[in-house]
Amino acid sequence: MKETRVVPATDETIEEAARLLREGEAVAFPTETVYGLGANALDAVAVARIFEIKERPLFDPLIVHISGEEMVGEVVREVPDLARTLMARFWPGPLTLVLPKGERVPGIVTAGLPTVGVRMPAHPVARRLIEKAEVPIAAPSANRFGSLSPTRAGHVAGQLGGRVALVLDGGACEVGVESTVVRVEGGQVRVLRPGGVPVEALEEAVGRGAVVVGGPEREGAQEAPGMLPWHYAPSVPVVVLEGGAMPGAEEAREAGLLAFRGAPEEPAFRAVEVLSPRGDLQEAAAGLFEGLHRLEEAGVARIYAEAVPEVGLGRAVMDRLRKAAKRRPS
Ligand code: TXA
Ligand code: MG
Repeated sequence: MKETRVVPATDETIEEAARLLREGEAVAFPTETVYGLGANALDAVAVARIFEIKERPLFDPLIVHISGEEMVGEVVREVPDLARTLMARFWPGPLTLVLPKGERVPGIVTAGLPTVGVRMPAHPVARRLIEKAEVPIAAPSANRFGSLSPTRAGHVAGQLGGRVALVLDGGACEVGVESTVVRVEGGQVRVLRPGGVPVEALEEAVGRGAVVVGGPEREGAQEAPGMLPWHYAPSVPVVVLEGGAMPGAEEAREAGLLAFRGAPEEPAFRAVEVLSPRGDLQEAAAGLFEGLHRLEEAGVARIYAEAVPEVGLGRAVMDRLRKAAKRRPS
């Protein structure tokens, strides 16, 4: 087991992290969505380390991160016009495009799929790191598989401490939920995972008729293999409160409440986290995992999470909450 160093992201530490990446090591770094655990996407052995560190099943493909459009050609076989439109509009930013895989990308990155997920992050630390590493970086979220996603360097150290040599600290992630994952095929944009780019923004960019959300039903690993029904789960049970439901006083006493705009006076919860007093869904998304981490740390027996409106970033928030509420099979 190695010691984990959490260091502020500076020119020197980014340079060091880039060197580690080139040498085949995995390092954790901030992006605008969540912290990533990166390795050289063209090095199968380095990528295997990611799966080992996260205890992630090999059927779950990784997203490849690039620093500039000139890198797209290194990982993707062809870029349809519709994908170009999305890149021009949303990159750098929280949009992952699933496209035909290039030959140099090892199968372990894509879980054997003929497609690869690619994204150009907007976070300056992520961009500089990839630029200096001079290779595309495969990076899932820097947490244990299935657990809460990390939006601060401390979250990474808490889950992966002793397993990763270096964590670049870039402060709190601004978007706070993972990228929107879309597959571009036959003139359509299919949303496989709601995330930091709202569906409405995609519709505005390419036309309503061209955007499809979810489905068709899973063809083995084909759809969004990471999207197991349980995911993003804290260590205690989560219950989503829909339609203004509230637990009784007895249940609330040992429980935590993840409230949207504010907590009710009754019942009294052991701990409360409010996502956005002004009801702003962007703010709610940004604080979602942070709030769940804090309730988990408060030692509550269970977390009740208030439903938020399912529009804009609210869609990504509800996707994460519903998955957190599913218990993982043990
Ligand atoms: O915001 C993000 O996307 C963050 C940061 C670090 O960039 N990364 C992230 O990675 O959320 P991860 O591994 O936690 O989720 C990646 C998901 C996979 O679970 C899968 O659902 C989807 O992206 N994905 C990746 N490649 C795919 C492919 N070829 N086909 C379908 N889905 C794919
Ligand atoms: Mg993840």
